[in-house]
Parts: sequence; structure tokens; C-alpha cells
Amino acid sequence: MKDSIRVIDSIQEMREYRSLIYETKNIGFVPTMGYLHEGHLSLVEQSNKESDITIVSIYVNPTQFGENEDLQTYPRDIDRDLDLLCKYNVDAVFYPNNKEMYPEGYLTWVEVEKLSSLYCGRSRPTHFKGVSTIVSKLINIVRPLYLYMGEKDFQQIAVLKKMIEDLNYDTYIRPCPIVREIDGLALSSRNAYLNEKERRNALSLYEAQILAKEMIYKGERNIDTVISKMRKLINEKDGRIDYIEFVDPHTLELKADLIGTLRVLMAVYIGKTRLIDNFEITIN
Ligand code: PAF
Repeated sequence: MKDSIRVIDSIQEMREYRSLIYETKNIGFVPTMGYLHEGHLSLVEQSNKESDITIVSIYVNPTQFGENEDLQTYPRDIDRDLDLLCKYNVDAVFYPNNKEMYPEGYLTWVEVEKLSSLYCGRSRPTHFKGVSTIVSKLINIVRPLYLYMGEKDFQQIAVLKKMIEDLNYDTYIRPCPIVREIDGLALSSRNAYLNEKERRNALSLYEAQILAKEMIYKGERNIDTVISKMRKLINEKDGRIDYIEFVDPHTLELKADLIGTLRVLMAVYIGKTRLIDNFEITIN
């Protein structure tokens, strides 16, 4: 099965492959850190629908992990990933290594100011610098028209949209909806860290969303009241809240009033695992 998928593990080969694709062909690109799940596969499916060529990258980018984070333990299984991708229409998998992506003497970084220091950036101050640098490098190598990204990483999409705009890349982000387990837990490669009890407690992120929506649809208009009820529910399930914020979906600025379309962003530690999730709410 694996033999039928083209795996490219050097930048030189990726560039050669890319240069053979006609300019009239749309390239859809799905950058990932591997350990693929249905969320990633939904991005591949979307690319298959809209693009002539689909390229997936698998690379656990070390520079987006903080010093005390989970780079060493981050789940990896390339054979499983390739088996999964074989079932889709993937033209090439780019699987580079650290030596090539960050050779000795590497000095160049891409940083999107302001947006990178909000929310997740408060507890992960170097994270988005690592993300924007690697995605910038990948765009330069793959030169895709479309970049498929899951809305679970809502802030990541906002940061990368700004980077693409500011650096004049000829690439467009196609945000795709969050994919959830049947009970509502947002899919994430990090869910693999959760033990049975933590997996049950992790559901509190989704339950807090349902609670918030119910409160708001029943007429509650005070953001602090909604957040404090969400916090209580999550704390009762042993969740340690990093943040819950109601923001403008375009600028990511904090919203003071429950009016129009808002995005509610949240990050919660369940045990040692930091999970993120978000949802949209519209009040007319
Ligand atoms: O969302 C991810 O998996 C990563 O942040 C990305 C975009 C592949 C960059 O390493």
C-alpha cells in the first residue's frame, strides 16, 4: 500500500517535483506534524475537492515547542500516517528532516507581532514564531495555491493569514471546520496522551461550549457570567484553565459585548495535556 504514495524527503527533490507541475495546476497543501487523525484527513479531502494536486507535509517542527514542552514525546508514526494517506488522493508527501530544515548556523525567523503574543502566545511565547517560520519555509518550497488548515488552531490561522498578507505570498488559507469525536471532543494528536479518566474529563471543554451556547441563547448577555459558568464546569472536571476568551473572529481582539459574530477561544490543561478548542457564536 505504502509503495503507491510518493514520499519526498529532501528539499531538493521536493523543488524538482514542484517544478514539473504545470503552472496552470492548483496545488493544495496540507502541512501537518503527523500522527494523523480524521481532522487532518478532512483537510486532505477538501484539498482533493478544490485542487488538482494535493501535497501533505509531515514534520514535527522543533522550533514551535517551548523548552519544557512535549517535543520528545510528541506522537510519531510515519508508517501509520502513510497507510492512512494511501486511501486518499495524495500526490506527494513531503517528509523533511531537522538537518535540512534547520541546518547548523540557521539564523532566520518569521514573527507576526502582536497576534503571536495573545492567548496561546501568553503561555507559549515562542510557539507562533516557530509556526510562522516553518510554514513560511514550507510555502517557499512547495509553492501551493491553497493551504488547508483546521479551525481548531484558530489563532494559528489568524497568525498565518497575517503573515501571508504581510509577506505577499501568492497562497490562500482555506480554513476547515473542527472535526470532533462522536461525544464532542475535538480531534487532536495530543488526545493520545490522555488516560481513561482524563479522556472523560477532557469532554468538559465541549460541555462548557454547550453550556455557554445555552446560556446565551436563553438571553444571557454578560460575557463574564458566561465565562465564570464555563470555568466552574471545567474546574469541576479537574481541568486547569489557561484561558477562555470571547474574541473578534477577524482581529482576535477581545469583545466586550455579546453582539454579532464572536469566536470563543479556550485552552485547558487536562492532567499534563494542554488542549485547545473554540466555537463560533452569533447574536443578532
Ligand atoms: O498545526 C500544525 O500541525 C502545525 O502547527 C503546522 C501548521 C504543521 C506547522 O508545524
